[in-house]
Amino acid sequence: MSICDNLLRHDIDIEHACEKVCACTTCHVIVRGGFDSLAGPEEDEEDMLDRAWGLEPQSRLSCQAKVAAADLVIEIPKYSINHAKE
Ligand code: FES
Repeated sequence: MSICDNLLRHDIDIEHACEKVCACTTCHVIVRGGFDSLAGPEEDEEDMLDRAWGLEPQSRLSCQAKVAAADLVIEIPKYSINHAKE
């Protein structure tokens, strides 16, 4: 299951403007713990992630990163770029 789906399942209201198809950056998260347990991003995710506000080395698009065995510590950035809202 993706980080995004997991957050939503636990009533954490993370944006997902493109409905989780890797076409926006609103689901951007910073993985503060357990980052190395995640499989690396595909090229599409990397390309889209470059446009995210507040990009850090542990940034991922939560709709693309799948939770593995380790517990994760997730930070949702203060801002996101949502062209649908602007
Ligand atoms: S919801 Fe748009 S890239 Fe994740």
